[in-house]
Amino acid sequence: MAVSDMKSILFAFVIIMFAFSERKSQFLQDKSFLEENILNFFFPKDPGLIKVRKINKIEGVTDIRILDFIGLVEQYGYPAEEHNVTTEDGYNLKIHRISGSLSDNERKKEIVFMQHGFLASSHCWILQGPDKDLDQGYDIWIGNMRGNTYCRSHVNMTTYERKFWQYSFHEVGTRDLPAMFNYIFNYTKQKDLYYIGHSMGTTSLFTLLSMKPEYNTKIKMAICLAPVVVNIKETSTFNVFNLSPVIKEVLEKREIYDLFPQSLATVTIARTLCNYNAMTQFICITILFLLFGSDPAQLNTILLPKIFAHFPAGGSLHTFDHYYQNFHAGDFRSYDYGITENYERYKQKIPPSYDVEKITAPIILFYAANDVLATEKNTLELSKRLPNVLLIEKVPYKFFNHIDFLWAIDAKTLLYDHILELIRKFNAKQNIRNKSTQ
Ligand SMILES: *[C@@H]1O[C@H](CO)[C@@H](O)[C@H](O)[C@H]1NC(C)=O
Ligand SMILES: *[C@@H]1O[C@H](CO)[C@@H](O)[C@H](O)[C@H]1NC(C)=O
Ligand SMILES: *[C@@H]1O[C@H](CO)[C@@H](O)[C@H](O)[C@H]1NC(C)=O
Ligand SMILES: *[C@@H]1O[C@H](CO)[C@@H](O)[C@H](O)[C@H]1NC(C)=O
Repeated sequence: MAVSDMKSILFAFVIIMFAFSERKSQFLQDKSFLEENILNFFFPKDPGLIKVRKINKIEGVTDIRILDFIGLVEQYGYPAEEHNVTTEDGYNLKIHRISGSLSDNERKKEIVFMQHGFLASSHCWILQGPDKDLDQGYDIWIGNMRGNTYCRSHVNMTTYERKFWQYSFHEVGTRDLPAMFNYIFNYTKQKDLYYIGHSMGTTSLFTLLSMKPEYNTKIKMAICLAPVVVNIKETSTFNVFNLSPVIKEVLEKREIYDLFPQSLATVTIARTLCNYNAMTQFICITILFLLFGSDPAQLNTILLPKIFAHFPAGGSLHTFDHYYQNFHAGDFRSYDYGITENYERYKQKIPPSYDVEKITAPIILFYAANDVLATEKNTLELSKRLPNVLLIEKVPYKFFNHIDFLWAIDAKTLLYDHILELIRKFNAKQNIRNKSTQ
């Protein structure tokens, strides 16, 4: 990241802090006061929010109520469900379902399971409103990962403990995904599903399918949007994970392990600073573009307060670090605990690489030209190593970035309609394999 970019982000944080600080004079004079305040503000131990199904009237910007998944979906006149799933290692997850018109139960609807990425939640898929075509035709289940705003609970640990946060896409893949799949299969009496993952939602799936290959047969087809899997080192591109050593040092010293929970702070900023009418909205836009690639034409600025009210939604610092290690090593591999612990866990000095050869489920890869996290080079390399790629496609828009997969103004025409078409074709056993990958 260029130094000037870092400065803009810091500048933005300082403005935000200034706007919310009650003791402005002290705030400006004392550096450690500033640092402490920023950290307490952005990384609170408790979110300070209450999720509700209905808000009749917004009381003010610091209203601690926020709509939950069911509330968000019901705004559009859809019914939604929440289900509890507990993983083998004790994490309590809440997952969601939009089953559409299940009443015409003559034929079983195919399951489409959607998995969000790092720091996101099930909300990320529905902020633009649900997709009618998808909802009518399929039984939609939407996963949530441990540690996010819906999954801050464990059978015998609290979120105050470091151990709760010692997980990454590895544990999400090998523990959360199987628990959610098994629950859904048992509940619906079905045996397999279509998987749509974004970002870490793809990293976790690849982890699962390589570590527990028996799950390959349970995935009819996986549609991987912006797959963050590092096969080769790219030194030229900026990516936010390179900040990991610095962030880790600052946060761990203060026993902060939860990176950007959905909290009163993020929601308040979303409602004020990122508001469409606010002169400060450019700060929110700048941060978004620095992290994910710049694409002003596809950014819905009216949606921005809603986006920031629901994203970030929390996730572990450990995950961030695991990605950093992968980018640093140029390899898709397990977490590096240091030589001693590596020997204990893996019986070898260097963490083992995930064996992507074992991923035999049919895979479709979508990537974007302007995505700084899931780059073209790495995605092409991934597709060479995976044994069963049906199709690899670049989204046909030059500036499409990492989060455009979720929130681009034209996401429907550029991407979603095509995804639906692919699922329909696959279901009808029509050929979708790209000639060049045959
Ligand atoms: C899920 O768990 C919560 C407690 O966290 C409980 O209140 C709720 O009734 C449970 N829902 C179902 C469907 O079991
Ligand atoms: C906590 O729960 C996990 C998973 O259920 C279990 O493996 C572990 O032994 C439990 N620990 C304690 C102290 O109860
Ligand atoms: C499977 O579903 C039934 C109800 O449909 C429930 O009673 C049972 O506990 C479930 N089993 C598991 C392993 O989740
Ligand atoms: C198949 O791949 C080639 C080269 O990668 C690309 O030019 C072409 O547009 C793709 N075809 C389809 C139908 O996606």
